[in-house]
Amino acid sequence: MSNGHTRRVSISDLAAKKARGEKWAMITSYEEMTASIFDSAGIPVLLVGDSAGNNFLGEENTIPVTLDQMIMLSRAVVRGSTKAMVVADLPFGSYEKSPKAALESATRLFKEARVHAVKLEGGKKVVPQIKKLIAAGIPVMGHLGLTPQSVYALGGFKVQGRDEGAAKILKDAQALQGAGVFAIVLEMVPAELAAEIAKTLAIPVIGIGAGAGCDAQVIVWTDLMGLTEKAPKFAKAYRNLREEISQGVKEWATDVAEGIFPAEEQTFH
Ligand code: KIV
Repeated sequence: MSNGHTRRVSISDLAAKKARGEKWAMITSYEEMTASIFDSAGIPVLLVGDSAGNNFLGEENTIPVTLDQMIMLSRAVVRGSTKAMVVADLPFGSYEKSPKAALESATRLFKEARVHAVKLEGGKKVVPQIKKLIAAGIPVMGHLGLTPQSVYALGGFKVQGRDEGAAKILKDAQALQGAGVFAIVLEMVPAELAAEIAKTLAIPVIGIGAGAGCDAQVIVWTDLMGLTEKAPKFAKAYRNLREEISQGVKEWATDVAEGIFPAEEQTFH
């Protein structure tokens, strides 16, 4: 747990990485254990994504996730890390209505969960919310392209910004930068468009399904570690934890059934 004196990664560190052309990684985390592992592994930014809905809470998508749930998960991630910047998603329904609503929600994440920045979805239409948060001293990360909170409006999980949609995403990215966000996630957009946006903007552009031309990459940890049953095309599983865990629990249950577990080493006298 943090003693409060460790220096966390800051938004200036991320700006400096962009200036140096140094690529970096952001990963989702929804609880203390993975937060501590990823933090010790040197991942600079942990995202408490509302993807917790479909990757941790058993929901169909991110839409049902509540602010109270995000606060609980985010607090655990902050507790489990000492060096990484922890960014929490503002969930659906917690910021769209007004800048005041956005500030109230982000303030709860700041004070109760102690996150270091918040992320929200959308382009020009959320600029007033972003300005309000930044004026209050809350760093904001943007999110454009496939914005999962609008999955029904977008007609599904589809690549965004092909053809005429490209200009709108570029304009939205410029509007978010103008409003003061410190970074932007670009999800499921053509690699060429993402690379152009990363080149045009002064702030870091973090890709997920947006090709190799971005300044950073973000991934959902359960996709990376092979826990998700049906991971998206843009994710690569570096391990097969689903299989590992399944094998482990089966071996243990067999040992219990056969009287092999507990053995003498696990027994008190
Ligand atoms: O909720 C989330 O995990 C995200 C990432 C996919 C960027 O927003």
